[in-house]
Amino acid sequence: MAYTRRDVSTLTATEKRRFVRAMLEVKRRGEYDEFVRMHLDYYTADGEEGLRAAHMTPSFLPWHRRFVLELERALRRIDDSVTVPYWDWTRDRTAHSAPWTDDLLGGTGRRTDHQVMTGPFAYAGGDWTISEGVTDGLFLTRDLGRARNPFDLPSRADVEWALKDGTYDTSPWDSTARKGFRNKLEGWGTGHGTSSWLNHNRVHRWVGGAMLGGASVNDPVFWLHHAFVDLLWTRWQNRHRDAHYLPERPPGPGSAQHGRIVARRQKLPPWDETPQSLEDVSRIYRYG
Ligand code: CU
Ligand code: CU
Repeated sequence: MAYTRRDVSTLTATEKRRFVRAMLEVKRRGEYDEFVRMHLDYYTADGEEGLRAAHMTPSFLPWHRRFVLELERALRRIDDSVTVPYWDWTRDRTAHSAPWTDDLLGGTGRRTDHQVMTGPFAYAGGDWTISEGVTDGLFLTRDLGRARNPFDLPSRADVEWALKDGTYDTSPWDSTARKGFRNKLEGWGTGHGTSSWLNHNRVHRWVGGAMLGGASVNDPVFWLHHAFVDLLWTRWQNRHRDAHYLPERPPGPGSAQHGRIVARRQKLPPWDETPQSLEDVSRIYRYG
């Protein structure tokens, strides 16, 4: 039977404790750092060579759907009552709301070096030492809302702007695509600074610290954020019943995107699945 992923603001004290305990155990076993490494390995950008499976690409959504599922499986091997909660950042919009409480993810970092000092993932607790980072820092960092130069999380209207686009993705299928649900949600905009960070990308920026780069998985909020992004994809699918993942077929040899993106029925590395096989996961989980 399908299990349910819940809004993080509705979890009971026991549910929060069990989620945290399972996360710390995945970390203790060394499995967590493999997730961080894998995300770093798949952090290929437009300007680089090779296949883009995870970012700036149509398969951004199925890749992260499968990635969150993998962490969830690791958590459920430890405690099968646990699922990955989602953080609805259109509703919980401050540095003190869910999920930034001491009984869950802890709060923002201290002023000097942005080190997270509260909650179960604070370095001093001894359970969350960063070993796979883009810097040598051993501790988790955050700068919620970017205290010195603040900006807001994406709004409900920003999400609606993406959800109402009935086309999954369009040429040129990268970070410069101006139409299509995928990039409107992934959030590569035009111009410079805060106004160019939309939806998914803007949330990474708002959390700051570890969430800024390829090692963003080091902050456990990564999973809560991507569970919500995944929920938004599900909402889009429900709203546009006849729409599907695009492109349907791989771009030909004449295209700049030849060999760089994953078409609907092509293998989505590193898994033996395709974007099509990941379009319907209703037998595995649903959102409550
Ligand atoms: Cu990612
Ligand atoms: Cu992300």
